[in-house]
Amino acid sequence: MDLTLKKIKKDPRINSFIDQTERYIRALGYTDHGRRHIDIVSDRSKMIARKIGLSTHEQETSAIAGWCHDMGNFLGRTQHHYWAGILFSQCYIDESNPDDISQIIQAIVSHDKDDLKIVDKVTACLIIADKSDVHRSRVSSKNIKHIKKDIHDRVNYAITDNKLSVDKQKKAITLSLKLDTKFTDIMDYFSIFTVRMNYCQKAAKYLKYKFHLTINNTKIA
Ligand SMILES: [Fe+2]
Ligand SMILES: [Fe+2]
Repeated sequence: MDLTLKKIKKDPRINSFIDQTERYIRALGYTDHGRRHIDIVSDRSKMIARKIGLSTHEQETSAIAGWCHDMGNFLGRTQHHYWAGILFSQCYIDESNPDDISQIIQAIVSHDKDDLKIVDKVTACLIIADKSDVHRSRVSSKNIKHIKKDIHDRVNYAITDNKLSVDKQKKAITLSLKLDTKFTDIMDYFSIFTVRMNYCQKAAKYLKYKFHLTINNTKIA
């Protein structure tokens, strides 16, 4: 079977893992790791893959990895990348091309790994797509007092616009954010997003691109 994002989205096993993850993350009160997030990550992974010139097949592989990367969260946050990789292989290892499966599992497992060594372009696309998703719409709480107390909620809530662009000629991948300083300041942003931005830099470097960050039209990196 040739795996496509369309087929994966209809698979009741994958949908069940995603439903369970949405319930689990909601109960923890964390920012969204469900369909809103994975839809953006899947789209962005595919967009990056397309713009840097990967094959149509690898673009689809990137979209699938993006859709499935967080579905292991319901089995525990700290190892969720491994769980998602295991779940994915259990579903498809016997019915798909093993090289595609390995590539997707590699991307899924690498998206949140401390000892990260990037060895694949699909992995790099997924990392940039995932770590760049910061936005007000990721915050599940509607209570402003509650949002202001939690740094992850506060920083996500403060981001009112998020654009990721890829310039093949200039070899540049740029994340442009609008940050509402009523909710947080740039130092807050960096206290939790430095690690994520480092991931993006590392992934862009692997693709032979430079990663740039712009906040409120000011070039930060
Ligand atoms: Fe994750
Ligand atoms: Fe994610």
